Amino acid sequence: MKVLGIESTAHTFGIGVVDERGEILIDEKSVYKPKEGIVPTEAADFHRENSSKILEEVEKKINLEEIDLIGISTGPGLPPCLNYGLKFSRKLAERLKKPLIGINHCQAHIEIGKFLTKAQDPIILYVSGGNTQIIYNNKGYKILGETQDIGIGNAIDKLGRTAGIKFPAGPEIEKIAKQGKFVLLPYSVKGMDLNFSGVLSESIRRLKSNKLEDILYSFQEVCFSMLAEVCERALAATDKKELLLVGGVVQNQRLQEVLRRMCKDRGANFYVVPKEYAGDNGVMIALTALINWKEEKRIEPKANPNWRIDSI
Ligand code: ATP
Ligand code: FE2
Repeated sequence: MKVLGIESTAHTFGIGVVDERGEILIDEKSVYKPKEGIVPTEAADFHRENSSKILEEVEKKINLEEIDLIGISTGPGLPPCLNYGLKFSRKLAERLKKPLIGINHCQAHIEIGKFLTKAQDPIILYVSGGNTQIIYNNKGYKILGETQDIGIGNAIDKLGRTAGIKFPAGPEIEKIAKQGKFVLLPYSVKGMDLNFSGVLSESIRRLKSNKLEDILYSFQEVCFSMLAEVCERALAATDKKELLLVGGVVQNQRLQEVLRRMCKDRGANFYVVPKEYAGDNGVMIALTALINWKEEKRIEPKANPNWRIDSI
């Protein structure tokens, strides 16, 4: 069995193919990189312009007649991007006369993390542009804690944009932060939930009066400590012995260091999704389509911009 997955929820248009053991056969993508923040209609136009080129690359490597199943990420995401992805994938499914199923983008980030790291039953920290959630599996995915305002990646990108750092700002912020010293910024954890808008607005305000590197360093330290606190409490409350990091923000080495140390102190195993598959990609959609198909979970392909993982 060969499964093709299409990712088109936000900035990335990607197509991946896996075989029935999950082995990665194809990983093609193009990423829309706006100067400022993402404009949803512009991102969808970008996908419209690049999708046939990506499909051509795929066809150079595989005969599409060999594909048995197609998965399309149908949410959460930006409506114009979801709609374009659906249109593209329906056309392809009709052409190949193969079934098309809807895939939850968050589940896909988790499944590829579990598959590639071999974590068995972890607490999952999902940190990306739009999402920040602490998740575990108990007869389906459950959300233990989450951001009450913005996703940590969006907070990072907004701080970067204000400081004149190009999108996505995470890697550059991480580099500059290495030179910084700590200044106190607002820390906000409420039970198992987090708030990033307070630390973000105070950081933006202080950019005028403090050194850039000090603000970026302190912003990272405060946000990552908040995440560590909630993850540690999740491990303690569920008595689980594994922590798995997924989503684009986990590429940050300082975040990994903070959480690795917390796990070591508790005797928990620590896993991070490999960086090539941390951000959005078509492979994670293909892999999740394979897993759901085998479990006879066939979700109708319909755009679902606010689709929560705990509703699957
Ligand atoms: P979602 O999964 O919520 O739909 P997304 O798909 O936009 O969000 P990803 O592609 O998973 O998000 O991740 C992108 C985010 O990761 C951006 O906000 C980017 O700044 C951040 N990021 C990438 N590298 C780093 C890094 N080294 N440090 C911190 N953040 C990073
Ligand atoms: Fe994502």
